[in-house]
Amino acid sequence: MSIKTIAVLTSGGDSPGMNAAIRAIVRTAAYNNLNVMGVMHGYNGLINNEIKQLTSANVGNIIQHGGTILKTSRSKGFVTTEGMQQAYNNIQKHHIDALIVIGGDGTFKGAQEFGTIYNFPIIGLPGTIDNDLVGTDFTIGYDTAINTVVEAVDRIRDTAASHDRLFFVEVMGRDAGLIALRSGIGVGAEAILMPETPTQLNELIEKLTNDQRRKKSSSIVIVAEGEEEGGAYALVKRLQPSLPNFDIRVSILGHIQRGGSPTAMDRVLASRMGYAAVNAIIQNQSGFMIGVIHNKIAQTPFAQATKHIQTLDADLLKMIEVLAM
Ligand code: F6P
Repeated sequence: MSIKTIAVLTSGGDSPGMNAAIRAIVRTAAYNNLNVMGVMHGYNGLINNEIKQLTSANVGNIIQHGGTILKTSRSKGFVTTEGMQQAYNNIQKHHIDALIVIGGDGTFKGAQEFGTIYNFPIIGLPGTIDNDLVGTDFTIGYDTAINTVVEAVDRIRDTAASHDRLFFVEVMGRDAGLIALRSGIGVGAEAILMPETPTQLNELIEKLTNDQRRKKSSSIVIVAEGEEEGGAYALVKRLQPSLPNFDIRVSILGHIQRGGSPTAMDRVLASRMGYAAVNAIIQNQSGFMIGVIHNKIAQTPFAQATKHIQTLDADLLKMIEVLAM
């Protein structure tokens, strides 16, 4: 089938780099004389016909901006038969031949179902700060999020050292601990608590107490929001009685991890993925998520491009323990 018009949407939690991906999609399509329609507010925009032409000029000067010019949503309507039918009617109304969706595993579940029901070409790009998807080494936004956390925790370390305090810093990631993992290593955290590794509270107490005895000037514990104790405040409530000599504070970093200017890594990753997605559609390929594995573009069928709780590299976990001495 000859492709003349591609639509693009962003769905689920936004992530820095989504705009770089949108830009790459539009510019690659224009280079190949294809039209691009931008769908606002994710799948809700498909249902509500919030669909508009996107030109090369529209995506000028956006590569450096976080967020998404197409806005996003967590669509409840798209999971209904009526919602999908309404979306398909609008796709036909605008003579859209293929769709590129940028989002996380929920986005891809919807894409897989819609593409199958309507035999419609869809390609996905992994846009989430959580980095929790099978089929790519890194998701769009992850590198920016961990750098945001590192910068924030470096600031916290300044005041922790001034007051000889112990900080528990909670980071995002939903049920994955990969933001905690790399940002924790990057800030030299005394401990990193993640859902992927069971938290040994007694060992943590002993380590922090020993650190204090050795006059460590500050202590930082990075806590993934999905960690089994239920986040930083719950953890501190549980630990406080066993840490009587500590001046403890909690910092929940929250949604600053979702914003900010994307790093060069995320801009390059997003550009490569957007470029590859359009070229795949031109070759009549679809039904998969584009990823980058060992620096090579990869295609993973939607059915496999799901959330995965990684088994973390044992050597990396050992390194964390050794370097936190
Ligand atoms: O999936 C990205 C993410 O930032 C998670 O890390 C976090 O738990 C969630 O979105 C927050 O969702 P919302 O922005 O809807 O509060």
